[in-house]
Amino acid sequence: MACQLVTGGAGFIGSCYVLYARRHGVRVINLDKLTYAGNMDNLDALRDDTGHIFVRGDIGNAELVGHLLQQYHPDAVVNFAAESHVDRSIVDPEAFVRTNVLGTSTLLRVVREWWSGLAREEASSFRFLHISTDEVYGTLQVGDKPFAETTPYSPNSPYSASKAAADHLVHAFHETYGLPTLLTNCSNNYGPRQFPEKLIPLMILNALESKPLPVYGKGANIRDWLHVEDHCAAIARVLEAGQPGRKYNIGGHSERANLEVVRAVCEILDDMSPSVSGPHARLITFVTDRPGHDFRYAIDSTRIEEELGWKPEYDFDSGLRETVRWYLDNSSWVENVRSGAYRQWLTLNYGDRGIAE
Ligand code: NAD
Ligand code: TYD
Repeated sequence: MACQLVTGGAGFIGSCYVLYARRHGVRVINLDKLTYAGNMDNLDALRDDTGHIFVRGDIGNAELVGHLLQQYHPDAVVNFAAESHVDRSIVDPEAFVRTNVLGTSTLLRVVREWWSGLAREEASSFRFLHISTDEVYGTLQVGDKPFAETTPYSPNSPYSASKAAADHLVHAFHETYGLPTLLTNCSNNYGPRQFPEKLIPLMILNALESKPLPVYGKGANIRDWLHVEDHCAAIARVLEAGQPGRKYNIGGHSERANLEVVRAVCEILDDMSPSVSGPHARLITFVTDRPGHDFRYAIDSTRIEEELGWKPEYDFDSGLRETVRWYLDNSSWVENVRSGAYRQWLTLNYGDRGIAE
């Protein structure tokens, strides 16, 4: 049976990938630090599954990672572990350097040490897949060509700068040591189990509580949305057939302005959970913009589509409906997530934001 060491597998995308891998018969060693974003409820379906081994720990803990590699002998390491939220990176950039840069660097070093002792055949079939973001490429204007794998890096937030640094390290470990690395740069994900500090779940939960829906600036910024299940299928395909040392952009062909997304969430809620006070769109509130707010992201995913035969299956409108439905149907997940720490974040990020002029 295939075995993978998955890091960050209690987070939004990592947990979706762990569930995907288990459905496909892969044994998973799941290393997660359980920061505020890590949530064991995401893995509830695997409670009695002996093919899923959860270990609480940090990717920067060299001794622990070395021990897990020796003990479980994985065929691949898939690195999702990261600090992932741009707004938090503006408040505390160093946490992002610690995990995304130093943590990834330690993980690469320890994996390389272990990998270099493997027999030739095992060493050549091993893969280190690092999950990255389209944000490393910087920002686009309307009419600019979407990001390709050849687009130079130009990160603008502490988050994207830390992810860019990690990507360079991954590339360097391939060039310098021959480690069989793969790199994926994906656009904005949406779907079940996303922590409600990100746009879509924040809007769903605020709307359900009749709270303001805080749209940064004029809501004109554009993101390219991909369903998390499509992302996981792409990752599996890259692991299976991607060429070591190569990078693959992953996108959803679903560019939307933020205001359009928020209005769509409101309309779905008007339908599924109508409010006696009127349409949910009445709650839309324009607030002070994010500093250094990238205007537009768009992905050219020709390489993965043509070379590996992957394409997204979900269309954004029905995927969004399904996502809203999931939050409505999973009130205990929602209640557990609305912890003290989450409340503190809302005060920190939105408390002084005020209404936009
Ligand atoms: P998330 O914040 O939901 O989950 C991150 C997980 O990593 C959490 O479970 C957390 O506990 C764990 N973690 C954090 N620091 C750790 C450490 N030092 N050691 C071990 N575990 C640690 O993030 P996500 O949205 O699931 O994103 C996963 C990955 O995908 C990240 O690398 C992110 O940069 C990338 N990505 C995310 C998106 C998106 O739209 N969410 C898009 C493209 C790429
Ligand atoms: P987010 O989900 O934080 O993802 P990212 O910054 O990685 O793209 O934000 C998506 C977009 O939504 C981004 O342009 C910022 C905007 N946004 C708001 O307008 N209001 C909010 O409260 C949040 C969290 C995001």
